[in-house]
Amino acid sequence: MQVDKALITTLIEAAMSADYTGVRRIGGQIAKRLAEQNDIEGAKALQSLLRKRGVPLQASGYAEALPRDAGSRLPLVEEGEWPTTPILLGNEAGHTISQFIEDAQNIRLLTEKGVSARLGLLLYGPPGTGKSLLAGHIAASLKRPFYIARLDSLISSRLGETAKNIRGIFEFVPARNAVLFLDEMDAVAKLRDDRHELGELKRVVNTVLQGLDSLTDDVVTIGATNHPHLLDPAIWRRFPYKVEMTLPDEDVRRSLWHHFLFQDSDTPEEIDLLARASNGLNGADIENIALAARRRSILGNQKPSLAQILLAVQSSRVGSPRLLDNRELSTTDKKALTVFLHEKGGARVADIANIVGVSRQMVHRYLKEAEHG
Ligand SMILES: Nc1ncnc2c1ncn2[C@@H]1O[C@H](COP(=O)(O)OP(=O)(O)OP(=O)(O)O)[C@@H](O)[C@H]1O
Ligand SMILES: [Mg+2]
Repeated sequence: MQVDKALITTLIEAAMSADYTGVRRIGGQIAKRLAEQNDIEGAKALQSLLRKRGVPLQASGYAEALPRDAGSRLPLVEEGEWPTTPILLGNEAGHTISQFIEDAQNIRLLTEKGVSARLGLLLYGPPGTGKSLLAGHIAASLKRPFYIARLDSLISSRLGETAKNIRGIFEFVPARNAVLFLDEMDAVAKLRDDRHELGELKRVVNTVLQGLDSLTDDVVTIGATNHPHLLDPAIWRRFPYKVEMTLPDEDVRRSLWHHFLFQDSDTPEEIDLLARASNGLNGADIENIALAARRRSILGNQKPSLAQILLAVQSSRVGSPRLLDNRELSTTDKKALTVFLHEKGGARVADIANIVGVSRQMVHRYLKEAEHG
């Protein structure tokens, strides 16, 4: 093939600015020329190269110019890392997610057959249930770069700036064959307070809708919110796939404890008891308590007892885990733990005595005191 200076210059320019879309477009033109010159083999080889996914920009070591807020100069999106810890999900959420990933991987075929749905997934549920982590995992499974935009940080006090910021995101991400994660979606609804005029809320919602509608079918967007009821119904409808992220059920809690605590030495009965006793806590709480236990075991001179871990669980509330220390259990602790294991842990008297480190008679006495007290 004859060297076409103009084509090669634009190709190198696109490559140097990590512009995959540009590289693909120019590559396509070159392949076409090869085919015209009857180099069918060469054209095919080039086309197969062009079908490959680009590496994430971060992995390429290329720090690119992110769109920024005009006032604060803070970036409007950040590139997140692919997670290194697993996401543990219940069956129902797991099924929807695998389906979503399968659809995303086969979007070309589905579009060809005219049955594609917009690749929009909404994750909703209380804090600490793994929404952000899951979004990162989806990007990793799809081998796409992961861009995070927090809607609350896009909202600017300067008039008109918010809509501009939102448009900036929707223009930036699609060209990068990336996963766009819109976190804190409900921030938009919070504009409904009196500091903002009503017209502004409407304008911002419309900008989000326009942004979502401007995306082609192959762009993956994942939205997350703790307050789905605050979400504008029109935005809600733009996400065909929805997954409610609930507090973990007993099976998931068992996996969480198993993963985050001492994986090597925990006996199944201990994990079962922890799973029952931690009903009502979220994944982040369990992670925090378990990691605190491991820290104490590394820095203290001995591994925390099961009783100390259970006591931390007993005194934790969802969203505010109590981190354990290496303190000896006081009588008050022992009583509280006994009642807790009896009522919530469903443990037998002999097991309670064993864990708390008191006689069976004492367990009976504590329970009786609690009943009458
Ligand atoms: N189901 C889970 N599986 C594995 N780890 C979990 C799970 N849920 C929570 N975690 C742990 O808790 C951390 C916090 O979770 P994450 O930030 O993803 O929650 P979130 O739902 O996005 O919360 P928020 O609504 O506050 O943003 C995770 O990074 C992970 O370490
Ligand atoms: Mg989150």
